[in-house]
Amino acid sequence: MEFTENTFCTDSLIDLNRFCNFLERYDVIILQKEIKATNGSTLVQAERPLTEKIIKSLIARNDIENGHYIIDNTDNLKNAIINKIFKELNRNLELATFSFPAVMIQKKSLDIRRIIRSALTNTFFYGYITLLFYINKPITIHLIEVTLICIGLLNSFNDEEINNNDFQKLFQAGFLHDYCNNDLNDWYEHENFETPDNHDRESALAISNKSLSADISDIILMNNKLSINEKYNSAAKQKWYENTSELLATILNLTEYYIYLKNNNISNVPEKIEDYLQNALFQLSLLTEKNYFPNNLLRIFETHYKNYSEIFNYGKIIGTTESMCIYKNLAFAYPKPKATQLLCINSSFSCEYRIPSQPLKVVQDTKYKNQIYPILQPGWYYKCKFSNNLPKPLENL
Ligand SMILES: [Fe+2]
Repeated sequence: MEFTENTFCTDSLIDLNRFCNFLERYDVIILQKEIKATNGSTLVQAERPLTEKIIKSLIARNDIENGHYIIDNTDNLKNAIINKIFKELNRNLELATFSFPAVMIQKKSLDIRRIIRSALTNTFFYGYITLLFYINKPITIHLIEVTLICIGLLNSFNDEEINNNDFQKLFQAGFLHDYCNNDLNDWYEHENFETPDNHDRESALAISNKSLSADISDIILMNNKLSINEKYNSAAKQKWYENTSELLATILNLTEYYIYLKNNNISNVPEKIEDYLQNALFQLSLLTEKNYFPNNLLRIFETHYKNYSEIFNYGKIIGTTESMCIYKNLAFAYPKPKATQLLCINSSFSCEYRIPSQPLKVVQDTKYKNQIYPILQPGWYYKCKFSNNLPKPLENL
C-alpha cells in the first residue's frame, strides 16, 4: 500500500484485502476504476463499495487483468482510519489502566479522538500515520509511547493558554520525531547511540516541506538534546517558556529522555523493570535540580509516582551537591546512582576544593553510551572536598 497524490493505492488484491482487515471494514474501500478480467469483461464496477466476498472471490481467480487499485479518499474512509488509530491508542492506554500516560490523560478528560481528527486534516500526516499503523513498523510502539506520554504531560500541565491546536501539534511532533529513522530495523541504535545532532535534524528537515505547522520542525529539532536553561527553575516566578512551542519542545525532549532511561540499564544491573524506572526518576530529579529540565514538569512525575518520593529527593540532593562546584558544572557524583564520591571532571582549572591526593580511577562509567546522557570517560579523576556533602546512598536504589 502506498499513499501518493492524496490517495492510497496498491497493485495487489492481497494487499487490498489486508488493508480492509486492518481497518476492519470493507465497505469504505471504493475503487476509482473497475476491475477487469483478462478477457476484458468487467468484474467489479468503479465507485462501488467492496465486500469481503467480492475481494476473496477475486483473489481466488487467476484471470484478473493486472491492475493498479486506487482507493477513493472518501469521508467514510477517513472516519474508518480515525477510528482505527483511536482504537490502537486506546488499546495502549488500557493495557495498564493505571499507566503513567493513561492516568495523565484521564485526569482532565481529554478528547483523543478530536486530537486525532484534527492532526489528520494534514494530508501528509494522514497518509503517514495510516501506513505507520498498517505496516506496523518496529518503531511504531516507540512512537506511540512517546506521543501518549507527551500528550499526558501537556494535559497535566497547568497553563490556561494551552489549546487544542497545541495538542494537535504535539501529537504530530510525537509521531514524526524520528521520521528519518522510521524504516530502520535498528532505529534504536541510531536513536540512542549515534553522534549528536543527526536524526533529529534530518527528521526536522525532511518534514519541513510537508505543509505542517512550522513549529513541528522546530519542536523536533530541539529533541534529544540535553542542555542547561537557567530560566527553568529560576527563583523569580516568571514563565520559563516564551511560547507554547517551546513548552511542547521541552515536553518532547523530556519524554524521550525519560523513555530512554526507563528502558536502559545505566549503571548497575537491575533485575526488575521497577529498577529501571527508579533509576530514570532518580536521573530526572538530579538533572532537573541542575536546570536541565523544568521543575513543574518533574512535579507531574512526582505526583504520579508518589511511592518514590525518597528517590526524587535523593536525586535532587545529588544534583544540589554537584551544583556546589564553584565552576558550576565540573563536579560529577560517582558512581551513579549510589554516589560515594564527587569527582572533578576537568582539573585544568585551579581549585581550592580539589583533593590532590588519592585520585580515583574510573574504568567504565556506564555500559551504555548515549549522546544525551552525561557520562565519565574512563581515566583518573581527582576527588572534590564537597564529597563530604553527599548523602548516604539509598539502599533500595
Ligand atoms: Fe525517539
